Amino acid sequence: MSDKRAGLTQNQLDSYWMPYTANRQFKKDPRIITGAKGSYYTDAEGRQVFDGLSGLWCCGLGHGVPEISEAVAKQVQELDYAPGFQYGHTKSFQLAEKITEFMPDGLNRVFFVGSGSEAADTSLKIARAYWRKMGQPSKTKMIGRIKGYHGVNFGGISVGGIGANRVLYGEGISADHLAHTVIKGNEFTKGQPETGAELADELLELIGLHDASNIAAVIVEPLAGSAGVLPPPIDYLKRLRKICDEHNILLIFDEVICAFGRMGSDTGADAFGAVPDMMNIAKQLTNGVIPMGAVIARQDIYELFMEKGGPDYMMELPHGYTYSGHPVACAAGLAALDVLKKSGAIQRVKQMSGYFEDAVHSLKGTKYISDIRNFGFAAGFSVEAAPGEPSRRPYEVAMDMWGKGFYVRYGGDTVQLGLPFFTETDEMDRLIDALGDSFNALA
Ligand SMILES: Cc1ncc(COP(=O)(O)O)c(C=O)c1O
Repeated sequence: MSDKRAGLTQNQLDSYWMPYTANRQFKKDPRIITGAKGSYYTDAEGRQVFDGLSGLWCCGLGHGVPEISEAVAKQVQELDYAPGFQYGHTKSFQLAEKITEFMPDGLNRVFFVGSGSEAADTSLKIARAYWRKMGQPSKTKMIGRIKGYHGVNFGGISVGGIGANRVLYGEGISADHLAHTVIKGNEFTKGQPETGAELADELLELIGLHDASNIAAVIVEPLAGSAGVLPPPIDYLKRLRKICDEHNILLIFDEVICAFGRMGSDTGADAFGAVPDMMNIAKQLTNGVIPMGAVIARQDIYELFMEKGGPDYMMELPHGYTYSGHPVACAAGLAALDVLKKSGAIQRVKQMSGYFEDAVHSLKGTKYISDIRNFGFAAGFSVEAAPGEPSRRPYEVAMDMWGKGFYVRYGGDTVQLGLPFFTETDEMDRLIDALGDSFNALA
């Protein structure tokens, strides 16, 4: 007999303080996932639920990929853990090299972390340390962007631009923010908006205000995901790159969502034609199977640290995590990147993104949908706010979808889709039909 709570007692439900979750609502009406295969979850009632966000943008290859499961099982038997400080194991070096094969030229030094949030703080710390090593210690301020998401640690929320993620936590690190790139007139644009590149010139205003001698780095997601899928206007990132070059400011791309296929390319840098000085990755790196992230730096950044590192028994960057380069995560990463390449998943996303684009934009005109944005296998729908309650309708849509057998993300005033890379056209059709019905069912 199916049991919505999967046999969990009330005390077990109460014991767990769930992340980014409306705990009170959830515990009244739990949504428990008990299994996953391919593009589908099984829930506690035995229903099949389509995974419309690839987990949390991290399982693009689908669930239960045998090559990854086998690599993980083997690694746990062979070497379950090895200290990453002052000692090494082969797979971390192999994975570092493998990652560089997906990177734009010049980005080839990989620092492992455990998550996207750790990647954010690591890249910000490397940027500040870099300028100290360069003899310019006043370059400490960071520039993020409104609506940006860089995880939940103090560095990440300081440069992040989603108010709800910051409001409770007081002072962060010194940061200012560019304007976001959602502008009036660009609603319902398919792919990248043609207008808006000039928004990058806001950086010149911030340089005027703070002076480049005080600014360490600019950090942006090439395509902002969590705020509702905001593709960059054409040439916007190239313009940011140029301004950073002209003013001696490092440019960091947070590609925790973009890298490894979701954009129909190896990276967002590749898709949008601009190369950063450092790139943050996580999520799709292991297909979500084991937590892992990394910061990939330009070779000369790494070399500066080596040159200015003092005697060679001294560590050049006093930074790292217990789980940096964890052997099991490395085994998962090696297998996941191998499958990503050999399966042709990235090319498939590119080929099918036109079909997906047409499907999501077919909902233009649907009740309460005020904008639709997409790129690759990512799409976001802005939802007209119910009076005084901007998040209520997205929540109601997502819950209605769950009831119909589709998992989608809701956040702020948006609903978001991030399809598994091998989603079939009839699955897309069913998903979009159901989504339209859920919007139409809103009061
Ligand atoms: C662009 C971006 N950066 C950072 C993060 C944080 O990653 P994590 O949740 O692994 O810390 C996310 C997570 O969604 C993200 O989308």
